[in-house]
Amino acid sequence: MPRSSPRWMKTVARSETGHSKGFVVFPIRCAFSGQAQKRRPYVLPKCYQCNHLFAKEQAESMRTQVKPQRGLSAIRPYVPGKPIEEVKREYGLTDVIKLASNENPLGASPKVLAALAAALPELNLYPDAQSYTLRQAIAGRLGVAFDQITVGNGADGIIRELCVAYLNDDDEVIVSRSSFPVYDISVNVMRGKLVKTPLTADFRFDLAAMAAAITDRTRLIFVCNPNNPTGTIVTADEVEAFTTQVPDHVLVVFDEAYYEFVDAEDYPDTLRYVREGRRNVIVLRTFSKGYGIAGIRLGYGVAQPELLAPMNAGKESFPVNRLAQVAGLAALEDDEFLHRTLAMNRAGLAYLYEQFSRLGLKYVESHGNFVLLDVGPAAPYVFEALLRLGVIVRPCTAYDLPHCLRITVGTPEQNARFIAALEGVLEV
Ligand SMILES: Cc1ncc(COP(=O)(O)O)c(C=O)c1O
Repeated sequence: MPRSSPRWMKTVARSETGHSKGFVVFPIRCAFSGQAQKRRPYVLPKCYQCNHLFAKEQAESMRTQVKPQRGLSAIRPYVPGKPIEEVKREYGLTDVIKLASNENPLGASPKVLAALAAALPELNLYPDAQSYTLRQAIAGRLGVAFDQITVGNGADGIIRELCVAYLNDDDEVIVSRSSFPVYDISVNVMRGKLVKTPLTADFRFDLAAMAAAITDRTRLIFVCNPNNPTGTIVTADEVEAFTTQVPDHVLVVFDEAYYEFVDAEDYPDTLRYVREGRRNVIVLRTFSKGYGIAGIRLGYGVAQPELLAPMNAGKESFPVNRLAQVAGLAALEDDEFLHRTLAMNRAGLAYLYEQFSRLGLKYVESHGNFVLLDVGPAAPYVFEALLRLGVIVRPCTAYDLPHCLRITVGTPEQNARFIAALEGVLEV
């Protein structure tokens, strides 16, 4: 760097383009509020020879006068499980397993794969916007009417549609702490107000606390059952007592993404409320878990048609793509695959419980295809050490459970590899 350069320019590196990196500091406005940032001036790397900004796009987006919608500033972005390819690249590994996103370790059903292959030549055609055949098939399966089914881009898509349909600014939405963070995002997008109730001491949803939190401004309550990431359920009796306390202006959303995995006899039959004509209940389910097609994005909701109408009004023109409709139909035809999935999950959970007990580790018994493991304050280090051994699990800091890891039940081989890695890490 020439001696005459101002002191704020400091060469730190030479980029691949041959530009020398210096730093320039200038005041910048917050992209959300438009407020000038007084305390911490933003620092941008800049070439001292030609003024090329290394972070040009970033600089430009920060300087725009076009203000984003203010609900977005409250969002803590959803952090998905680390992708296998990224871990391979970062740690120089060739053999990595992922037990971080509650995916189906058996893959997808062969019937689904065959149906998808047969559907490929028609990709030039738009899908059926109404998903008529698929909705008929789901309705037939559940014993409800066709117009009581809505399908979407995953259960995530339906959660978004629900918030778009039912939330105005500052409407209250009751969710539990340590639950699925996608609710928070969609509520914030609509500038709703999140009201969070604690879990019970045994990591279950506290429905009494949720009922007590209802006000005139409450619009939605999300009951995640089984709950992600704790794997716990609320029972039929608890749900019955709860629903009698919920006023008619409040919509109760039972998110049953993992319902296929539940064996408990006291698990509630929430579809009963829909069949009985209750106009403030919706049940959400997904093809991502038991049916193993998370990658294709397909979920559904079951509710009275009057409740679905505003959601349908706000839908995208083609909310479920052609392949997803084909895959969903084929998945419903493959009970054998679903049963294999459930049997493997049951055996996997039993194995993991046994191993955790042997290692003296605390865990929460799960009704899903994952289990919450308490490894104490060292959880971030255990997570990182497992990554280095090629095992991706999910840290639970974003779920307000910083001492815990969430482990998806894998194949027997994957489970054994995870336990061997965990044992090695904990002994260090
Ligand atoms: C509780 C819960 N609800 C909904 C979803 C989203 O499901 P989908 O893949 O259908 O969007 C998940 C996915 O992990 C989940 O855990």
